[in-house]
Amino acid sequence: MSDYDLVISGGTVVTATDMFQADIGVKDEKITAIGKNLQVGSDTTLIDAKGKYVFPGGIDVHVHFQLPFSGTVSADDFENGTKAAACGGVTTVLDFAIQQKGSTIMDAVKARRAEADPNVCIDYGLHAAITDWNERTQDEIKQIIDYGIPTFKMFMIYKNEGWMADDGMLFQALEETKKHGGHIGVHAESVDILDMLIERYAKEKEKWGAYGHALSRPCYTEEEAIIRAIKWAEVTGGRLYIVHMSTGEGADAVRAGRARGVDVYAETCPQYLLLDDEVFKGENGHLYATCPQIKKPHDSERLWKGLQEGDVQIIATDTCTFTTEQKAAWNGDFRKIPFGMPGVETMIPLIYTEGVGKRGLSLNQFVALVSTNPAKLFGMYPQKGALEVGSDADIMVFDPEREITIRASDLQTNCDWNPFEGWELKGYPFATISRGKIIATEGKFVGEVGHGRFLQRKPHGNL
Ligand code: URP
Ligand code: ZN
Ligand code: ZN
Repeated sequence: MSDYDLVISGGTVVTATDMFQADIGVKDEKITAIGKNLQVGSDTTLIDAKGKYVFPGGIDVHVHFQLPFSGTVSADDFENGTKAAACGGVTTVLDFAIQQKGSTIMDAVKARRAEADPNVCIDYGLHAAITDWNERTQDEIKQIIDYGIPTFKMFMIYKNEGWMADDGMLFQALEETKKHGGHIGVHAESVDILDMLIERYAKEKEKWGAYGHALSRPCYTEEEAIIRAIKWAEVTGGRLYIVHMSTGEGADAVRAGRARGVDVYAETCPQYLLLDDEVFKGENGHLYATCPQIKKPHDSERLWKGLQEGDVQIIATDTCTFTTEQKAAWNGDFRKIPFGMPGVETMIPLIYTEGVGKRGLSLNQFVALVSTNPAKLFGMYPQKGALEVGSDADIMVFDPEREITIRASDLQTNCDWNPFEGWELKGYPFATISRGKIIATEGKFVGEVGHGRFLQRKPHGNL
């Protein structure tokens, strides 16, 4: 019997803090050795990583697979969404179990696990989205954290979906999660101002087309909601996480909050870093509608600066795939566009090309933003997000020289369009390994459906 099931030899190992030449040995799903000249036995699989980087597998803490939303269901289900993740170097995703009004959080968790467990191709966890606050919900918080879900989500908008949480709910949820080591993620936009502006611009919807989506959601609607949520975190002492932050003003608010000791963190997404709201003026502008929407170039620049300086700690995707057919439901009315886009498959190579390649992000920062920080803050470290003896062998071998052009038709996602169509990338995942199994090579899925497992995460995650 060989010492190792798999050896990755000759690569440059990169973690959030280090970079060195070493082989990595894997046995029984775990990393069991990091060193020079590891012995390869007759039944050891060998990956030659000379000239390549060896990163911990990517972690995307914000995906919505098969989400019923905007009158349709997002087009990448748990099977194809996790295949797409694998193709893009991502070995862990966190999706959402959204409480139904009048029902329990645990019911939502069980229902979501029934959809995901038999179908996932990589390990996954769930956040619990709180939509109905009452004594039973309050009592459930500890139970859900003990179950392995220490992170909750509250939507400050989406009245029509029945998902909206008001300030009283948010305040109490921050208090309760603080007691047990959980955190509250918020979708932060000012609902009343937003709803008023949407109706105002809708009066001239033919004139504005898809750009009406951008006009009706000015930056101050995100800024105000973030400032308000930070205030509730400040006075309760609870931990707040701003999901899909899209504005420079948001980054300023998080920075200011953190500077005065508020326990607040933030995530942004490739679409906010790399696209701007001119996309809505194009013929297919409606395809790009997400919520919050893509903002201005100066917002992107501030968000990149925030990643460099620690105001924004995590990059995730908010993957919520809608095809051109699904998006066509808008029929000229920007209020009816299903909000969301594909993302999990292209996050790693996009951020590598644009962040490391063009904007001076260090390799260590890159690993921190797409793997180690998510693992730490979301209670998975060092099982995930680390290249250490004893960690799960979730590894991405990355070829920094591989050049590709993004084409929707080449990708695993069920989406027939891509927000980054035609973008040229330098650097792409060469092999993705999930608990010791090679599950994707050069962007193609080679793993097994059902290989993934539900992750029980720990409370009190910390960077
Ligand atoms: O456009 C988006 N973000 N769709 C998914 C729902 C959400 O708000 O995260
Ligand atoms: Zn959201
Ligand atoms: Zn989302």
